[in-house]
Amino acid sequence: MKQEVILSRALATDLNRVVQQHPSDQLFLLTDEQTHRLCAPLLSPVITAREIVIPAGDVHKTVDTLASVWQTLSNGGATRHSLLINLGGGMVTDLGGFAASTFKRGIAYINIPTTLLAMVDAAVGGKTGINFNGLKNEVGVFSPAACVLIDTGFLRTLDRPNLLSGYAEMLKHGLISSEAHWAELLNFEIAGNVDYDALKTIVGRSVQVKEHIVAQDPLEQGLRKALNLGHTVGHAFESLALSRRQPVLHGYAVAWGLVCELYLSTILTGFPVEKMRQTVGFVKEHYGAFDFDCHRYDTLYELMTHDKKNHAGIINFTLLKDVGDMSLDHTADKKLIFEMFDFYRETM
Ligand code: GLY
Repeated sequence: MKQEVILSRALATDLNRVVQQHPSDQLFLLTDEQTHRLCAPLLSPVITAREIVIPAGDVHKTVDTLASVWQTLSNGGATRHSLLINLGGGMVTDLGGFAASTFKRGIAYINIPTTLLAMVDAAVGGKTGINFNGLKNEVGVFSPAACVLIDTGFLRTLDRPNLLSGYAEMLKHGLISSEAHWAELLNFEIAGNVDYDALKTIVGRSVQVKEHIVAQDPLEQGLRKALNLGHTVGHAFESLALSRRQPVLHGYAVAWGLVCELYLSTILTGFPVEKMRQTVGFVKEHYGAFDFDCHRYDTLYELMTHDKKNHAGIINFTLLKDVGDMSLDHTADKKLIFEMFDFYRETM
């Protein structure tokens, strides 16, 4: 399940080389309406590919869109020796990866992520899939890209909320990896005048954290659960926001989830209170707070019991003993989870 990840300095040159290294009878390029307009022109001087354009946005990460990609591959004469290049955010890399992994039982694909969230998380690690039956990423397969080509130049034109959304996953990587990486993330100026060269360096480090974990546990049997830090509560916030028809960006929900799960870590696994306070301060300053009152506690709890990482309805948390010191497979009773929500509302 080896997946090459390249932090690119010259995207066109690197793509040209990667395409040569993966000989194919035909190239297909998957984009959404935005990356078709803004990013695909950067690749046209170096590759000749049949382009497949899908609508942008998570609401289109559906079986219908997937079928339209299969249809174009089929109509275009794709064979098992064709190559699909996915150019876009996590929606494009997830859906495109799934389309490639299932077409003719699997063709090779390359991811070129264009958002920070996709660069540090979605496009790396081989998780592919679509939303189904109202559930996010409900159908999919583990199937790594032949190569992930990361060009942080795309971040220069990414809007600030999406930059912050991806940064929350980087903060998670800092928390699960080392004190030095966590501290550099807390000190980096992500909200003001961004130093994009310095950002490129820490994106590289962040991707290495994920690669290192995925290499040891590609199918999420154990260690990879560490990447779920902040997500058990984060997904519940995300779903509640969606049900109110006020969707929030995934990374914002993860940042708020980190606040809750670090609180649990201080109670259950002895995470240092001062380090929790520092992280919470960062989240509060950059992400604001998710608004809910105590009447929503039961709904949030119920949403957490449906998380697909649970076993037999028992809520599963990844917690930390300290920065860089993970502790997997914890649960918490309803009373403690409600206390956690109280803490969140009092602190944020
Ligand atoms: N996004 C978490 C993972 O790839 O495992």
